Amino acid sequence: MVAPVLQSEEAVLDRLRKQQLVESLEHMSPVYLEGIKRILTVSADTELISGPAYYHAAVHAPSLNAFGSAVSIIQDELGHAHIAYRLLRDLGVDTEQLIFEREPRHFKYPYAFDVPLDSWVELIVANAFYDRAGYTLLGDVYQSTTFGPWKRALVKVDKEETFHLRHGEQGMRKLNKDQSGHEDLQRAVDWMFLLTVEWFGLPDSMKKHGEQLNYGFKGMSNDELRQHWMSTAVPLCNELQLKVPAHYDEEQKKYVLDCAFPAHFDAQKKQWLLEDGSCTWDDVMKRWKARGPKNEAFVGMIQRGKREMLKLLEQDA
Ligand SMILES: [Fe+2]
Ligand SMILES: [Fe+2]
Repeated sequence: MVAPVLQSEEAVLDRLRKQQLVESLEHMSPVYLEGIKRILTVSADTELISGPAYYHAAVHAPSLNAFGSAVSIIQDELGHAHIAYRLLRDLGVDTEQLIFEREPRHFKYPYAFDVPLDSWVELIVANAFYDRAGYTLLGDVYQSTTFGPWKRALVKVDKEETFHLRHGEQGMRKLNKDQSGHEDLQRAVDWMFLLTVEWFGLPDSMKKHGEQLNYGFKGMSNDELRQHWMSTAVPLCNELQLKVPAHYDEEQKKYVLDCAFPAHFDAQKKQWLLEDGSCTWDDVMKRWKARGPKNEAFVGMIQRGKREMLKLLEQDA
């Protein structure tokens, strides 16, 4: 591919000041291009990995109907991944390499997906928590992004994510009706709540990629997004009498956490080591970089198909 002629930073910022969307490579500067590739890759990888991660739990569906809804969610997620990778391809990225040949540990999805969902209850809570995080992040991108093709594509994604998180909410209300369901939910919430709180990343005071806001890739900061997520996730848990380590503080007019945060997490036991007190965000970044227990297996499920197909083609040749 011939390298495109990119705009100067000033020209792009000028375009954005006039509230014109960026439509293609020709409208981008080097910083804009790198920034939009970074945020699109995170989004594409997150959508893609939710496929195998959700499938791992969907097989425990309590009925054929329930299995059907889980599989339709997985299908949506693969569609969302396809949109984001397609946009990356239009920006000159080799997406075949990105999807099928990248080392599993170089994928950029949130750490939470590396921790296996081992039951139907955990899948339902993932819909209520993780899809809500996706909805929060992408809803913000939809409102604020200056990249026109992504903004238009997110209309469909946004609608489908609403369905996923409603599936989680309704599922939780249903499971909560009897005592054993309530206890199962509490066990899932105990490890999944803080994993979603940390999903939104470094606190604003430590954040590095300033261009995400300057160039209008997103509108809200990490801490604002985290608040936004808690503003609906915490009331849902309160309604179901599920204990979460967070509450609304009237004086500060925001949600605050009632436990050590950030904290160390035992991924094998799916347990927070809260009694050890808070750790640093450096410790969290180290855990994220090392990836979690299912990183290789889940990426392997995605990459296996192409390898098998190539082997068959070689045999035929
Ligand atoms: Fe999605
Ligand atoms: Fe989703």
